[in-house]
Amino acid sequence: MSIKEALGKKKEAVEAILQRFLAEEKGFDRTGREAMNYSLMAPGKRIRPILVEEAFFLCCKEEEKEVLLPILHSFMAAIEMIHSFSLCHDDLPAMDNDRVRRGQDSTWAHFSEAQGILAGDALSLYAFQAVLETFQKERRKNPLLSRYEGRVLSALLVLSRESGIDGMVGGQVVDLEKEGQPLSEEELFFIMEKKTAALLRASLLMGAILGGAEEKVQEEIALYGENLGLAFQIRDDILDEISTTEELGKPVHSDKEEGKTTAYSLYGRERAEEKVKEYTEKAIFALENLHRGLLTEIDKAGADGDNAYLFLKELAVFLASRKK
Ligand code: IPE
Ligand code: IPE
Ligand code: MG
Ligand code: MG
Ligand code: MG
Repeated sequence: MSIKEALGKKKEAVEAILQRFLAEEKGFDRTGREAMNYSLMAPGKRIRPILVEEAFFLCCKEEEKEVLLPILHSFMAAIEMIHSFSLCHDDLPAMDNDRVRRGQDSTWAHFSEAQGILAGDALSLYAFQAVLETFQKERRKNPLLSRYEGRVLSALLVLSRESGIDGMVGGQVVDLEKEGQPLSEEELFFIMEKKTAALLRASLLMGAILGGAEEKVQEEIALYGENLGLAFQIRDDILDEISTTEELGKPVHSDKEEGKTTAYSLYGRERAEEKVKEYTEKAIFALENLHRGLLTEIDKAGADGDNAYLFLKELAVFLASRKK
């Protein structure tokens, strides 16, 4: 199976999981619930939940997988909720002012600016509700799950830290504050690392933590996520310049219109493409290190571990030249 086919299958599986975590569309606050679901179910690539799942299968011992599966699914839904919240707000008139997202009206353009703000707020908190409710419910059914409470708490800490001011939101703060101003390379990397790499790194870390990975494995997998995230944002900046709205599913030249300094504007196309390659190679190097040095850990995860390793490697290469 090609990586493209594999990604398509995994994306479908993620969407089936997301369906189970949708807000119920009823009551006086129905509009808010519809806006949350509209934002979440708009056709995205679902890269982050896929990363959570792969990191889990890379690290988790065979005998622990089944009992943890419902919790894993709640974390996969949670990270996509946080990501959708970030997109929902990122498109607002006060932020990037974009009317198209994932090939359709952005949430605020479809509902209203106020409902766009509220849908983002609601999704950011629903993410934590999804995990905590799932854990509580599953633990009642299966008291054995209590022994994994520490892992769940650590993964929730990662999710909150990498989403808020120490992560994605922090990056957005600087991205918007610096609009219309030239950036140093250091400032640009601060922004890319926080607004984008943080959530990709968090996805991998949460999966690894839930799977019971040791500290060293967590560090190495975070390094993979970090570099993958930087390559991902630089590629995003390039696509904003060279793609079309039809292909990308979001407005092109949005960065220039908003006066952003991006990897493209700072480096030019050729050097920006070199940077994507450089960070992709760094990501793969971290993954290979993990495979070499910590083989015993991956061994415990059996064939699933090997498959996840190969998939994550191919994914980095695929994303480096993605078209959308
Ligand atoms: C878009 O993320 C925002 C960035 C961090 C560049 P994705 O490219 O993963 O968007 P979707 O989820 O596929 O729409
Ligand atoms: C990506 O920034 C980071 C977040 C959305 C948090 P962009 O503003 O470049 O993302 P797109 O291009 O609108 O998806
Ligand atoms: Mg933005
Ligand atoms: Mg934007
Ligand atoms: Mg962009």
